[in-house]
Amino acid sequence: MSSRYPAAWLDELRSRSDIVQIISGYVALNKKGRKYWGLCPFHGEKTPSFSVDGEHQLYYCFGCKAGGNVFHFYMEMEHCTFSEAVTQLAERAHMTLPELERDEDYERRRTQRERLLAANKEAARYYHETLFTPAGAASLAYLRRRGLSDGVIRKFGLGASPDEWSVLSDRLMEKGFTLDELTLAGLTVRKKSETGKDRYFDMFRSRAMFPIIDAYGNVLAFGGRTLEKREPKYLNTADTPVFNKRKGVFAANLLRQQRHLDRVILVEGYMDVVSLTQFGVEGVCATLGTALTAEQARLLKRFAPQVYLGYDGDSAGQHAILRGLEILEQENVPARVLDFPDGLDPDEFIRRDGAEGFRNLPAISPAAYRLRRLKEQFDLSAQDGRLAYARSASEIVSAVDPLERDVLLSQLSLETGFSRETLTEQMKLSVRKDAVRTSETVARPRTSVRTVTGEAVSDDIKAQELLLSLFASGKIPKDMIEEKDFDDDELKSLYRELAAGASPASLPDLAPDDASRSRYTRLLLMPASGSTDEMISMANDCLVRIRRTKLENRYEELSQEISSAAGERLSALLQEAREISDKLKKLK
Ligand code: UTP
Ligand code: MN
Repeated sequence: MSSRYPAAWLDELRSRSDIVQIISGYVALNKKGRKYWGLCPFHGEKTPSFSVDGEHQLYYCFGCKAGGNVFHFYMEMEHCTFSEAVTQLAERAHMTLPELERDEDYERRRTQRERLLAANKEAARYYHETLFTPAGAASLAYLRRRGLSDGVIRKFGLGASPDEWSVLSDRLMEKGFTLDELTLAGLTVRKKSETGKDRYFDMFRSRAMFPIIDAYGNVLAFGGRTLEKREPKYLNTADTPVFNKRKGVFAANLLRQQRHLDRVILVEGYMDVVSLTQFGVEGVCATLGTALTAEQARLLKRFAPQVYLGYDGDSAGQHAILRGLEILEQENVPARVLDFPDGLDPDEFIRRDGAEGFRNLPAISPAAYRLRRLKEQFDLSAQDGRLAYARSASEIVSAVDPLERDVLLSQLSLETGFSRETLTEQMKLSVRKDAVRTSETVARPRTSVRTVTGEAVSDDIKAQELLLSLFASGKIPKDMIEEKDFDDDELKSLYRELAAGASPASLPDLAPDDASRSRYTRLLLMPASGSTDEMISMANDCLVRIRRTKLENRYEELSQEISSAAGERLSALLQEAREISDKLKKLK
């Protein structure tokens, strides 16, 4: 993200743009303890979980996990890029923009990420322009045949890749991009031919193009639909340094523009998003050819307070809904289901029944949806079938709140012939299999520590995170902590920057993506309370824990090796084990 601006100048701008003052322009803030609190502007809520840390100049929402420094707040609020935020805040602070490096030099120094995004943007522009030329006529005809208006085609920046081998690659190379960059971006494929010569060609040829654009307007990747019956139907950019299909969604850029959505509709296909949008439905996006992931669920939570799953009405889609509901539940995102009839996908449905039909489609609760699917598995005309259905259904019903339970019990009673009282009794018996779910929810920490149980690993990371937070407060003596106390790459680099004197507010600028930015900010917030002495003593507890775990792990390894070692090797191992044992004693 950063930056063509000199770091010192950015620091100056940040300190002249007081975050409390800037945010107060948008959100009513109240001071409580060390921080200011208000209703989060990025997700709907009734009790404040949005905090502003005036000391460290950071904001963080404990509800939706949005966070960063004043630049990020401005970007998210005004839907602008980093440099637009910088320019506008500089104007406000009466600071003149620094002389930016001359173009050539700047080109060279730009990060790879920026280069690849620039190549993608050029490609998107080229595809879109081509759509309206003879080389794109076939794609344009195809999109029109599918009922798309020119307005919606422009809104999504749809395009055409011509039926040629390398027009795009050649054009981008003329503009100064290298073959390596184009290959990395997934725009160009490179092959050794039989004669051993290096050959290249465009990844996308003769397809209608769907650019995948993130919330800040960066073009991350493309999906290309075949115009004939060729496989694959959609060709997608594989993961690249700027694109991870498990993290993004299609049409995030439009979600960001549509403020105050009361729900996001998540569908399966590009065409479903485009088509619903053309019919005037707002807040639609799609996963990118994979099942919903936890990262995507968290991303969606930032656009609206609940998610409607609008997957295809075929059996694959129905299975994906059940799985998607689990993911959303794990991430605490309220969900509903749009159950499309007759095996239709959202695009087919809205073309058949119109915007009116779509509006009238009920958004049903997860439990009601699960019951609907469950019921199909039994023959309710037989006593056995009704019994088995009632048993399984009781488990689902026992998990919902009393009001919905009442509704579902009436429905079940009608379907099975059992009285509500009997069903209620049955329900009390059914223990929900919560254990399974909870064990899945435990976040998998990224770590290189080898410990015996997963739980120990995550506690260890927690201790490291707390240690970093305490260090960020500036109250912990520098020489108390070492870089090797951290295992996680992100924690290591945050520690290194802080130790080198970087301010906490500058660090979210370094985060590679939204998820990391959120984590950085959470860790860099000023601790809620505590005197310097208390903080030092907490840091010490963390250190003891971290260092002890490391030594214990090593000791464990050594004992394994010792059991099968001999001779010199054995005495070396024994020596090390003795040293570790001494160190461990000292730590306690
Ligand atoms: P579908 O096969 O349901 O396509 O795939 P669709 O959206 O109805 O497409 P149309 O209407 O035939 O044009 C749903 C999504 O799965 C991914 C794409 O993201 C697609 O939008 N997909 C599908 C692929 O990535 N590759 C494929 O070959 C097929
Ligand atoms: Mn379709």
